[in-house]
Amino acid sequence: MNLFDIENKVILITGGGGVLGGEMANYLLSKGANIVILDYKEEIVNEAVENLKKVKNTVTGFVCNALDEESLKKVADKIIDQHGKIDILINAAGGNMPGATIGVDQTIFDVNIDHFKKVVDLNLFGSILPALVFGKEMVKHKKGVIINISSMTAQSAITRVVGYSASKAAIDNFTKWLSVELATKFGEGLRVNAIAPGFFIGNQNRNLLIDKETGKFTDRGKTIIKNTPMKRFGETDELNGTIHYLCADASKFVTGVVLPIDGGFSAFSGV
Ligand SMILES: NC(=O)c1ccc[n+]([C@@H]2O[C@H](COP(=O)([O-])OP(=O)(O)OC[C@H]3O[C@@H](n4cnc5c(N)ncnc54)[C@H](O)[C@@H]3O)[C@@H](O)[C@H]2O)c1
Repeated sequence: MNLFDIENKVILITGGGGVLGGEMANYLLSKGANIVILDYKEEIVNEAVENLKKVKNTVTGFVCNALDEESLKKVADKIIDQHGKIDILINAAGGNMPGATIGVDQTIFDVNIDHFKKVVDLNLFGSILPALVFGKEMVKHKKGVIINISSMTAQSAITRVVGYSASKAAIDNFTKWLSVELATKFGEGLRVNAIAPGFFIGNQNRNLLIDKETGKFTDRGKTIIKNTPMKRFGETDELNGTIHYLCADASKFVTGVVLPIDGGFSAFSGV
């Protein structure tokens, strides 16, 4: 038995047009999965699907807003028509907003509460709603895997990114909560886990880590490297092994965990 067999699995990736979701899609396609890219703008979906088809043509995509239950339900119907099942959901839609991050010369009293709420909405409800809509399909077959994306900001305070941190801390708890709910009420075939990536250069944090003008690391970027035992930022393809493991039967007794992929950042006290 191949514990890592994911051939023909139907894997949905919200935010599949983004940096991390796109990388995961690319890898999982190469392992024989059927990938469904979900993203909220047509041009993003089209571009992602076009690029991924060069890897393998078992990829489709739908415009879908992870925050809109109706949009998710419509897409769920289309996916069931097309594939007859949903095996795995990766909630990779997420992000930050400028006003939910405290500026260098600001304090918490300057935070933009509207942006704070929007960030919580996107990262928390943008994972809860897809988990509920697509999870309902998984429950019908008593089998399915949901993978959420947490962050290093969830477990200890990382300065400035207050809204994002609150939303990812909530994701950690929701991951555990839903894992218990689904296993106890619908059986052991339903698993919910999360990965907590360390620092990877993405759209949302590029300006915090790399100076736009000079292209060099910012002070914050340098501090992160100093506190990462492996002394570097992660490469997006370094998430693939853990994602593959969580999708496959190799992890069939694993549910409710948040796995750090961080070069040792979360293990290190800094001293
Ligand atoms: N890049 C990192 O270093 C890092 C580290 C830790 C966690 N994360 C998390 O990983 C996830 C992906 O990050 P990324 O770096 O790939 O970000 P990204 O901005 O490159 O990708 C996010 C994607 O989500 C899509 N999206 C946004 N709102 C949506 C909505 N309402 N409905 C559907 N799609 C929507 C965007 O169009 C985009 O394609 C996020 O949850 C992020 O918080 C990233």
